[in-house]
Amino acid sequence: MSDPKSSNITWHESHVDRPDRERLLGQRGVTIWLTGLSGSGKSTIAVAAERALVDRGRLSYVLDGDNVRHGLNSNLGFSPEDRSENIRRIGEVAKLFTQAGVLVFTSFISPYRSDRDAVRALMDSGDFVEIYVDASLETCEGRDVKGLYKKARAGEIPEFTGISAPYEEPERPELVIDTNRQSVEESVAQVVSYLEEKGYLSPPSA
Ligand code: ADX
Repeated sequence: MSDPKSSNITWHESHVDRPDRERLLGQRGVTIWLTGLSGSGKSTIAVAAERALVDRGRLSYVLDGDNVRHGLNSNLGFSPEDRSENIRRIGEVAKLFTQAGVLVFTSFISPYRSDRDAVRALMDSGDFVEIYVDASLETCEGRDVKGLYKKARAGEIPEFTGISAPYEEPERPELVIDTNRQSVEESVAQVVSYLEEKGYLSPPSA
């Protein structure tokens, strides 16, 4: 936790603890952090996995880059500093949701390793699952769902990840999803199996 700017503030404890909430929901809170290039499939996988989990009676929620940049982070652009602040704020929000017992998917390029590691450090062990949504630049540019790569190549979008701004691949992600060849259904199945295997889809024992 970073030092707050204000000094006269004290932490107030809740009367409900995390296992209480998790038993209520029948699951364990976790942040499933999807990272990868624009167009790699992060948001598609996140919303499909959220649907699949909710259909199974589990509470899941997606925090998405494009969406969050309309509200909470509407004052941030794409400079390295702004991207770091974007990820820092999302990390804090994801931590709150995780402590509330929710299966949180975050869908942000999050191109800098140090920013992702800082979020991991913010969370308790087991609360942060990093997933590299791996699609090559060629694949993403070939899809160009939002037409942004074309604009970036034409010089109309400065600091575009993969073209004129860096993307640092995760070194030890918990999971890699290869969307160069895998379907959305296969990717969702891979995520759900991981959550099942690691016990996130069951309540903590009393
Ligand atoms: S991050 O780098 O700070 O993690 P974030 O995931 O919030 O990025 O937002 C990425 C989305 O913003 C992209 O999917 C794309 O739609 C849009 N975007 C607009 N400008 C840029 C840019 N310069 N680089 C990357 N994405 C951009």
